[in-house]
Amino acid sequence: MSDSRPGARGHYALGHPVIGPRPLARTRSFTRRGGRMPHTHQQAWDRHAGEVLLEVPRSLGERSTAVDPSYRLDVGEAFGRRAPLVVEIGSGAGDALASGATARPDWDFLAFEVWRPGIGHALLKLEQAGGGAVPPNVRILEADAALALRTVLEPGGAHEVWTFFPDPWPKARHHKRRIVTPEFADTVVRLLAPGGTWRLATDWDDYAESMQEVLDAHAGLRLVSTERAPLRPVTRFERRGVEAGRAITDLAYVRI
Ligand SMILES: C[S@@+](CC[C@H](N)C(=O)[O-])C[C@H]1O[C@@H](n2cnc3c(N)ncnc32)[C@H](O)[C@@H]1O
Repeated sequence: MSDSRPGARGHYALGHPVIGPRPLARTRSFTRRGGRMPHTHQQAWDRHAGEVLLEVPRSLGERSTAVDPSYRLDVGEAFGRRAPLVVEIGSGAGDALASGATARPDWDFLAFEVWRPGIGHALLKLEQAGGGAVPPNVRILEADAALALRTVLEPGGAHEVWTFFPDPWPKARHHKRRIVTPEFADTVVRLLAPGGTWRLATDWDDYAESMQEVLDAHAGLRLVSTERAPLRPVTRFERRGVEAGRAITDLAYVRI
């Protein structure tokens, strides 16, 4: 996403007990949560947010995307069952959530997204995919995944983690804002069950190279596939990349 979304706010992570007293460069990129939601998305939000969005304590205030680090999500309670859990980071307009949740009703899907209009859109797509009701195996947490995943979920709790078309930050001076870093890889590896899979996709060659460099260097991960992820639908980010002549890279790493 670009810098131009309305509603930008300050460094929400400033003073966060996990981040510490200084803001990270990457947190500047999505301190905003809002912007205007189209009417249909707002209506979908009004119909479904209560059941699909998880209410969590936020130590820096209700509008913050930083979850209180002492909070632990009870996944069984959130979904009303225990099933293999897919964690999606940056679900955007919800395409992968909608196709995944309907294709795999035996799995649960927990998405982290900081862009509120995207969540509204996702709720509409989920409702359409579910024939009028959001599939019961989806929950969304309006939170910064890079921070929240350090604390919210129990280690080894995820069967798969999906990071499809993370914000590319193409300018060299903005690369430090990219979410896939060695620290983030540590966070995801902690989250994955042994044998669990981290699936990533991007249409930016240099980001793909840097992802591979970071993940190849991680002792807890092994590259197992560069084929298209089985449940990954075509989204506008893939279409836009292809139209611009960029190649799509898929990566799947297994937690050793
Ligand atoms: C380029 S979009 C891709 C959306 C979707 N995965 C797709 O393929 O269509 C990246 C999304 O990640 C979200 N995002 C970026 N950083 C995030 C973070 N730290 N935590 C949660 N969501 C994040 C953005 O708000 C945006 O919706």
